[in-house]
Amino acid sequence: DVENGKPAQYLYFGSKLNAADLQNLTVATNGRMDAYPAYGLNTPAEAALAMRHSDGNLSTALVATGSDVKQEANATVTTIHLKDPVYNIKVDLKYRAYKDVDMIEAWTEINNGEKGTVTLTTFASAMLPIRRGDVWMSHLSGTWAAEAQLSHEKLQPGEFVIRNNDGVRNSHTDHAEVMFSLNGKGQENTGAVIGAALAYSGNYKLKTVTDDTEYHYFFAGINEQNSEYHLKKGETFKTPALALTYSNEGLSGASRNFHKWGRKYVLAHGDQERDILLNSWEGVYFDINQKGMDQMMADIHSMGGELFVMDDGWFGKKYPRKRDNTALGDWVVDTEKLPDGIEGLLRDAKKNGVKFGIWIEPEMVNPKSELFEKHPDWAITLPNRKTYYYRNQLVLDLSNPKVQDFVFGVVDNILTENPEVAYFKWDCNSPITNVYSPYLKNKQGQLYIDHVRGIYNVLKRIKDKYPNVPMMLCSGGGARCDYEALKYYTEFWCSDNTDPIERLFIQWGFSQIFPAKAMCAHVTSWNKKTSVKFRTDVASMCKLGFDLGLKELNADEQTFCQNAVANWTRLKKVILDGDQYRLVSPYDGNHMSVMYAAPNKNKAVLYTYDIHPRFGEKLLPVKLQGLDAKKMYKVKEINLMPNSKSNLAANEKTYSGDYLMKVGINAFTTNQAFSRVIELTAE
Ligand code: GLA
Repeated sequence: DVENGKPAQYLYFGSKLNAADLQNLTVATNGRMDAYPAYGLNTPAEAALAMRHSDGNLSTALVATGSDVKQEANATVTTIHLKDPVYNIKVDLKYRAYKDVDMIEAWTEINNGEKGTVTLTTFASAMLPIRRGDVWMSHLSGTWAAEAQLSHEKLQPGEFVIRNNDGVRNSHTDHAEVMFSLNGKGQENTGAVIGAALAYSGNYKLKTVTDDTEYHYFFAGINEQNSEYHLKKGETFKTPALALTYSNEGLSGASRNFHKWGRKYVLAHGDQERDILLNSWEGVYFDINQKGMDQMMADIHSMGGELFVMDDGWFGKKYPRKRDNTALGDWVVDTEKLPDGIEGLLRDAKKNGVKFGIWIEPEMVNPKSELFEKHPDWAITLPNRKTYYYRNQLVLDLSNPKVQDFVFGVVDNILTENPEVAYFKWDCNSPITNVYSPYLKNKQGQLYIDHVRGIYNVLKRIKDKYPNVPMMLCSGGGARCDYEALKYYTEFWCSDNTDPIERLFIQWGFSQIFPAKAMCAHVTSWNKKTSVKFRTDVASMCKLGFDLGLKELNADEQTFCQNAVANWTRLKKVILDGDQYRLVSPYDGNHMSVMYAAPNKNKAVLYTYDIHPRFGEKLLPVKLQGLDAKKMYKVKEINLMPNSKSNLAANEKTYSGDYLMKVGINAFTTNQAFSRVIELTAE
């Protein structure tokens, strides 16, 4: 609701209304409905914006001066213009509403028209009021090797803050994405849900305030802690976007909105296919050599995969990379290990009929490196304290344009010298430590923000020059994954923990927000107590890959993997581009089930997993979702070990979609770590 001279106010956020009914909406009087509340007048309320004006005054008030709407190919962008009647500050609230996906991106542009510098002390991307009731927040938290664990909390009076101070790896501990279930604790397939994802790769703050009014107030944006921003005269500060969605189909429904929007409008190469890769890390760790790489290329080719990626350990001249304590920064081949260089590896890749990709960690430096010797001032580090090391490394200072050039050069040099390099795994293994930028000098408060802007500058340059090269976003597992970074990456590494049991929980968590297409899941030797089939079936739910010496597998397991790769390749359009329905949560018991349905509902793939069932446990059928009730579906269990038959009662039978959704399939068993992959084909 925009009336010139008054604050812009929220009217409604929910299911789509028709134009006539929209006229009936009035601004609620039992809440604080300012679209972008500023600090200074109504001080008891929380603010989305606060600043110190050039004269030292701390108050800001925002009233509307108009609005406009611009059409884009698939969206409309509405701008609400606000200004402070006393100070020359202009604020534009921006809302990009997509026509074909239920998603609105909201962000804010703050312009300083004062005579001097203004210091921004709070600068949320957006605020959303949520009507009180039995509102629950679902969010992700975790740590290394236990990323994206899902929890649900009922919103109570007070503040609920999720905040990150890590600098560059903002999703190890918490996530800048949340879901609000409006009618009780979040359910996967029923109930009204608001989803919110902040598209930002640096420090963030999500804050839900429940005060004495009838609303909860959700604020999301950059974490201003240690980050006040000096906005120069004439400068405009653009916040990251907050993507907001709404669904009446529960958490899974809101997730599907994120997945569709993510694939179509955010993710790099979101509309393209993905290759099955073998990564060298868990097979050989730092023990890289030409023969070993050649063997692994042959292995993945024989498996039916398309890409081999050489991980850490291939670089460093003066200080060869034998462990994680040397050579980051020195992106030249270690010729002791690889006498024929990248050229030789590309030759082997061609011989083996696979593409070749390479691991880099270009934002980092080991003090034991030629780069650090030459440019100690390029690292973020305190000049006057004993240095603290996280994984023996420091973060390069990307607020410095020269450092941006260097980091861009890491990719650019490799691709200029070896244009056939077809893929990068881009790692980031340290948070920002020893927080001091030699470049920013007396503007240290801007380090966190300028550093992230520097990363985006580099990524933009890479995308502009090499738009077709896919890149995996990795960060000591899943420490970095958000919808701004994913504009530049085709996929992300969910976790260094590849124990398939743990992965059921981790992948369930990430899938709340991110599409399977973006989630790398590899078959490894973690948890050898589980079968290769189980490990492969778990990885097959996302972007399938391998991270092990394939020689470890016996003949049957190899045949199984070849078949599983062929099945996945045949079905990847459904798995990676279809609609995901989460059916049975591993958080609720001893089983898990997820399915994918093609948008035309002619094909679906169902995954069921038994984790640690109890003796004599009563097993419930899995009720499917997303099928066409009227169509008949043939049920077929696939991914079977050689010489074994399916014992699924429904196998090879035909049922209506209605039956499968109402009665379901008895797919669970009381076996430990047992899995099924079931293909459904409309007849
Ligand atoms: C991180 C990644 C791993 C691997 C190692 C290499 O931990 O998550 O997959 O690339 O770095 O050092």
